[in-house]
Amino acid sequence: MLILGIETSCDETSAAVVEETGDAAKPWSIRSNIVASQVAIHREWGGVVPELASRQHIRDICGVVDRALSEANATWDDLGAVAVTQGPGLVGSLLVGVSYAKAAAAAAGLPLVAVHHLAGHIESLVLQNGELPLPSVVLVVSGGHTSLYLVERPGSYQLLSRTRDDAAGEAYDKVAKLLGLGYPGGPVIDRLAKAGDDRAIALPTTRLTHADRNAPELKGDLDFSFSGLKTAVLRHVRELQAADASASRPPDPLQPGTLTDKTIADIAASFQRVVVTALIERLFNAARRYQARSVGVAGGVSANSRLRADLKERGERREIPTFLPSLALSTDNAAMIAAAGLRRFRAGHIASFDLNADAALPLEYQPPT
Ligand code: KG4
Ligand code: ZN
Repeated sequence: MLILGIETSCDETSAAVVEETGDAAKPWSIRSNIVASQVAIHREWGGVVPELASRQHIRDICGVVDRALSEANATWDDLGAVAVTQGPGLVGSLLVGVSYAKAAAAAAGLPLVAVHHLAGHIESLVLQNGELPLPSVVLVVSGGHTSLYLVERPGSYQLLSRTRDDAAGEAYDKVAKLLGLGYPGGPVIDRLAKAGDDRAIALPTTRLTHADRNAPELKGDLDFSFSGLKTAVLRHVRELQAADASASRPPDPLQPGTLTDKTIADIAASFQRVVVTALIERLFNAARRYQARSVGVAGGVSANSRLRADLKERGERREIPTFLPSLALSTDNAAMIAAAGLRRFRAGHIASFDLNADAALPLEYQPPT
């Protein structure tokens, strides 16, 4: 069976055709995965502008789906279902995908499958690597999310912890902005950090031990927090600029141009070391606590070169297999939504045509029966 996936939760319009292989160990293969990125549009504004994003999704969605079908050498008649991201995300953006998917499924007489965006990121690991040894602890780390999930059975995702404030990708984007490096921040900090000294600047690591008031059922010590780190970088940059000013250079608090390339590289490397260490520590602590047989990292930040290297190194030391998506499957894409959609479809979850987008959709835990 072929499934069409549609993803429009943020600033990528994406459509993909994924095929069921019939092989239980490697259940899906990608026939096509088309992504129209809006980065160039939002870069001008230093971040995603929701209204511009929804308008661009409307312009792109039909062409992107046509291309996904033609690259897959498929027509509407060849499809068995349509899967779409229902949430979470920007509601105007989500609505474009959901409306399109409903209309297309109704017109083609196909079942509609609603997919949670983070289930898509988690299933990107299976799409890439085949079924993971379970139980598995998976870190989903992107511009909007930093959460740990326990996967005990295929399709069951139990939230273990999450960020109390900024997502890791959001911290990358904010630090890049204050260093004058543009949007999105992750790839550029990743690149510049390679030339920097990751011990040059003492930045704080956050330890959380108390319960989260918003989710008291979760143990606090696996939670994440990145807003203090971002503020520490800001303070450091201000101090450097103040020192510049007292050395009789013109004070310009909003102009990071007074920082040298070496200083920026050192800040990038030090910031990245603290972020990646926090992510890896919590991930492997959770793996030990839940006796995981594998660990995975998915989401946009899983493209990070240091995170990928440290994950592999730590996994080899702990003798636990580690899994990552390819770079193309790390950032938002519809192939992962199609894969998660096939999982849901096979579990009997069909959406009705009154499906609505939900900007704050929770990822529901399906306890073992
Ligand atoms: O998963 P994604 O495409 O969209 C969301 O669902 O948020 O993730 C985008 C995020 C951005 O914050 C971006 O800066 C970050 O992923 N990112 C990276 C890297 N590539 C993308 N962060 C660190 N290092 C990278 N190489
Ligand atoms: Zn995402």
